[in-house]
Amino acid sequence: MRALLNAARVCPGAFAAERKALETCWTFLGFEQQVAGENDWFRSVLGGRSVIVQRFQQGVFAFENKCAHRGYPLRHEGSGNGPLLCGFHHWRYNHEGLALGIPNCIDMFGKPPREIDARLKRVELAQAGGLIFGRFADPEGPSLEAWLGPAFPILNYISSFMPTNAIKASFDVKAHWRYIHEISLDDYHIVAIHPSTFGSNGYLPGRTTRYDQIGPHSMFFHTGNANSLPEMVSQCEKGEFFPHRYRILQVFAGLVVSFVPATRLFGEGYWYIVVLHILPVAHDQSKLVSYSFRAIQPKTKYSWLKFARWLAWPIIDRIFAFYARRVLREDNAACELLQASAATDDLPPRLALHEERIGWFEEAYALAVSGVRKGSFRWAEHNGDGGPYGSSSESQ
Ligand code: FES
Ligand SMILES: [Fe+2]
Repeated sequence: MRALLNAARVCPGAFAAERKALETCWTFLGFEQQVAGENDWFRSVLGGRSVIVQRFQQGVFAFENKCAHRGYPLRHEGSGNGPLLCGFHHWRYNHEGLALGIPNCIDMFGKPPREIDARLKRVELAQAGGLIFGRFADPEGPSLEAWLGPAFPILNYISSFMPTNAIKASFDVKAHWRYIHEISLDDYHIVAIHPSTFGSNGYLPGRTTRYDQIGPHSMFFHTGNANSLPEMVSQCEKGEFFPHRYRILQVFAGLVVSFVPATRLFGEGYWYIVVLHILPVAHDQSKLVSYSFRAIQPKTKYSWLKFARWLAWPIIDRIFAFYARRVLREDNAACELLQASAATDDLPPRLALHEERIGWFEEAYALAVSGVRKGSFRWAEHNGDGGPYGSSSESQ
């Protein structure tokens, strides 16, 4: 089994099989604000295939980025605005992915477009607030809400105040996507890899970490306890969550949301939400896109404090963006070194207490790629019952 799991990091054929196995898992594709206006569209990746998410008059729909005529890619850029029109022979598609505009149709095919009934491969969509997730059809799979469990209200809440001008950074990383996901689950590397930022105060003491397993997902609470997750969910549902301790939520597979402190000024914290979108490209290559934006602060009646915030945020934005990039570059460099020495027969890792969630993630990954029904990931069926996704741990 170990060799099978490692193979996707080493061999293109195994990578393709891995993407196929994961295509019916709910996968983060992008943000609703990227398709704010009619005919806005963006490209993303699902199950190793290029997909298009587009807003039509009838709503937001998504399809594989492949023409039903001869497989030409419909979109070549990352995003844009315009009707769904293939650039090869000008077939035009409607919101259902049905080709209704086929040039010279009767002449060329002897029948009208509706009789040809050529359709794009449809992507099923669902949203947690403004976060758009997709999967290729799995009629028996869980709803997005069931799949995400308590992560659903957290994502829903943070997307409610995400601005359209979040600080965005993209990185091409020469490493399999799992290395990037796993380094975000590792609280043990901070001193060696991030000596000037996260690791500047040394190692985290064991007792300050609280890990919660949420189905195939997981979360880290700095100085948390058993109540941290339910409290956060309840505060997010009421729209009353304000970060005051570092937290990080990893959503299987390839979405990471962290709550990061930037500084304290005038007696209050300035925090950022950082969303990482990991897009698999090849067995040894991925794209990492980060979006950072300000966490909201509690309302204040003091006009001097409002003014101080207004002055401070733009300066903090620049400093935060600089350090956030540095941290991501450091992580990416470590992932590329891991990739360079990957082999199909690597031994299982020796996981420390602060790497515990990597083990959970690998377990979820093994189940997913070995074809175990995705419905078995439903967190609610396992949470707290001691089953494969039931555990949570508080370091002593
Ligand atoms: S391949 Fe798209 S119209 Fe021919
Ligand atoms: Fe890191």
